[in-house]
Amino acid sequence: MGLGAHESSDLKPLTPEEYLFFRNYIMREAGIDLGENKSALVMGRLSKRLRALRLFEWKMYIRYLKDLGNDEERKLVVNLLTTNKTEFMREAHHFQFLVEKYLPSLVQQMGDEKRPIYFWSAACSKGHEPYTLAMVLEDYKARNFVNFDYRILATDINTDVLEFAEAAVYESMEVKPALPAHFIELFFFKGLGSREGSYRVKDQIRSKVKFRPFNLISDEVIPLLFDVIFLRNVLIYFNQSTLQHVVEKIHRHLLPGGALFVGLSESIGDRRDLFESLGYSTYRKWP
Ligand SMILES: C[S@@+](CC[C@H](N)C(=O)[O-])C[C@H]1O[C@@H](n2cnc3c(N)ncnc32)[C@H](O)[C@@H]1O
Repeated sequence: MGLGAHESSDLKPLTPEEYLFFRNYIMREAGIDLGENKSALVMGRLSKRLRALRLFEWKMYIRYLKDLGNDEERKLVVNLLTTNKTEFMREAHHFQFLVEKYLPSLVQQMGDEKRPIYFWSAACSKGHEPYTLAMVLEDYKARNFVNFDYRILATDINTDVLEFAEAAVYESMEVKPALPAHFIELFFFKGLGSREGSYRVKDQIRSKVKFRPFNLISDEVIPLLFDVIFLRNVLIYFNQSTLQHVVEKIHRHLLPGGALFVGLSESIGDRRDLFESLGYSTYRKWP
C-alpha cells in the first residue's frame, strides 16, 4: 500500500485530546478562543497540510509542531486557523461617522500641528479596510477642497493575508457591489485581457498604506501614537481577559482624544471606563 492510500479519507477525526491541543495552541499563539466544538473547523482547515506533509495521523502532526524551532510551521497553523472575512466599505456607518463627525476638527488640528494624521487598521485582513479608509479620505479631500497628509498602518497576525493585501488585486464581485462607481473609476485599474474581471488599487491609494505583521496579544509595541484606530471584527475571537488586555494595549497606542472603532457587534468589555462612548461602537480616549 502506497502513501497515497493514507490521504484525507484515512485521516481519523480528532480525538478530544488532539482537539484540545489545537485549541490551546491557537489560544496561546493568537489569543483566539475556538470554544468547545470547533473540531470540524480545525480538521477542515488543517487536513490539507497533513496531506502535503504525507502525515496520516493527527498525533504525528502534533509531534511535528512540538519540535522546537519549527517557526515556519507555527506561522502556517496560525494562518490557517484565523478567520479573515472582510469586505470593502464594511460597516459603512463608521466611515460616514469618521468623515462627518471626526475628520473636520482633526484636519484643522493637523493644520496647526503641521503633521500627518496617523491611522491604524489593527486587524486588516486582506486590505479591504485600510484601502477603503484611504479612498474615503481622498474623496473627502476632493469634495471639501482641503489638503492634509495622512498615513495608514495596517497590521494582521496572518502573513498570507498581508501578502494578498500588498498585491492589492481584487475580484470584480468584491469591488463592484461594495463601492460607489466613482471610487472604482478613480482608485482602481480595471484588468484587461487575461486579467479581465479583476481590479488593482492604484498607487495613489496603495502608497498611503503600509502593511506589516503584528500580533495583538504580543508584548510588541508600535513606537507611534495614533489619531484613529480601527480594531474591527477581531475582538469577537477573544475571551474576556484577552479582550481586556488587547483593549488596554490599543488604548496605550492612542493619542488623548483619539478615536477607536470596533465592529458593530463587538464590545470593549470592562475597559469602557478608558473611553467616552460616541455610539455605533465608536469610542474616544479621554483627553
Ligand atoms: C474577520 S477579520 C476582520 C478584518 C477587518 N478588520 C474587517 O472588519 O473587515 C479578523 C482578522 O483578525 C486577525 N487576527 C486574529 N487574531 C489576531 C491577533 N492576535 N493579532 C492580530 N490579528 C489577529 C485575523 O488574521 C483576521 O485577518
